[in-house]
Amino acid sequence: MGGRPAQVHLAKLSLANFRNYASLSLGLQPGAVVLSGENGAGKTNLLEAVSFLSPGRGLRRATLEEVARIGSSDGFAVHAEIEGPYGSCRIGTGTAGAAPDGSEAARRVRINGDTPRSAEAMLDWLRVIWLTPTMDQLFTGPSADRRRFLDRLVLAIDPAHGRRAADYEKAMRSRNRLFADEVRDDAWFDAIETQMAETGVAIAAARGEMLRLLSAMIERLPAEGPFPKALLALEGSVDQAVARMPAVDAEEEFRSRLRAERPRDRAAGRALEGPHRSELLVRHAPKNMPAEHCSTGEQKALLVGLVLAHARLTAELSGMAPILLLDEISAHFDAGRRAALFDILEELNCQAFMTGTERALFSSLEGRAQFLTVSGGTVRSA
Ligand SMILES: Nc1ncnc2c1ncn2[C@@H]1O[C@H](COP(=O)(O)OP(=O)(O)O)[C@@H](O)[C@H]1O
Ligand SMILES: [Mg+2]
Repeated sequence: MGGRPAQVHLAKLSLANFRNYASLSLGLQPGAVVLSGENGAGKTNLLEAVSFLSPGRGLRRATLEEVARIGSSDGFAVHAEIEGPYGSCRIGTGTAGAAPDGSEAARRVRINGDTPRSAEAMLDWLRVIWLTPTMDQLFTGPSADRRRFLDRLVLAIDPAHGRRAADYEKAMRSRNRLFADEVRDDAWFDAIETQMAETGVAIAAARGEMLRLLSAMIERLPAEGPFPKALLALEGSVDQAVARMPAVDAEEEFRSRLRAERPRDRAAGRALEGPHRSELLVRHAPKNMPAEHCSTGEQKALLVGLVLAHARLTAELSGMAPILLLDEISAHFDAGRRAALFDILEELNCQAFMTGTERALFSSLEGRAQFLTVSGGTVRSA
């Protein structure tokens, strides 16, 4: 698998009015960063701040109002100094100083003092991947959560994916609005459905390609690793079409299906088919069992294995080891698995932020990690 990927790391993180942090300025080291502290101390909040260094709504999918510290009136700010193979860079993001309407559009991004064309420009400098306890229900919960997970995996290796997904959503919403407004203008529908078909097929193709690459990566990993291998598949009519035929034909097929299904979709008020309904299927390879039928512990191990394989893939494709945010990561694992996890993170050369209530859970990292104690919105060296 070649040499170790170049590390990208946050050298400094500063927060203003972010959740329970009034202000924070933190020097960070490459490698593992362990955050320990009691419940409610601000550990997850800190990871969330780092997750804002990638496009989207962060690891809690919060609104910007929720993120701004209660009682502050000037919005929040996250600043980071990043060091990587392309040199160092400063990224700032937040709502501080922005229009006070609190609208979703108001998260601003600045890179080295300039406003980039879009938030996706952050992906030129770093890729952030996270795993949180809410994702413990990923395999058993709603299918939309798995799609969102899948799309984040795609985004980390293919920065254009966010744009594609947004364009598809926009076209789909326009079509739903035509149904709601009882518009029956065929030309209008045709135009919107053409957009849906183009962007929808592009989404399915990007997802399919990512799954192919990720599966190949998993295939290359040693059979007896500490985390079980996953078998991945995508189920949906557009996904199947994309796998079977050239993209132009898949577009034509999806477009004619949308046209044919207008009466049905009109009755439902929305499109009942398309990549927004695709299902990510995950199997536990060693047991050959659907992930949703595995035990809680097995599901967690499967998910961690998947995220680590994806981190490896991201590093290989982007030339930058991703930054990992692993919230409450060691809760489910025994000491052996934890030690194996830490070894893999070191091999991946990632800066990995890990949280836990007990520092003792990370004892095998003593001497090779930065240990920080979080308490009441403050952070100090442990
Ligand atoms: N917008 C906010 N302003 C101030 N405090 C907040 C805000 N949002 C959450 N908090 C507080 O942050 C704390 C939770 O922090 P969190 O990082 O989830 O803790 P933990 O260390 O357990 O991961 C809670 O006490 C919560 O009330
Ligand atoms: Mg937490």
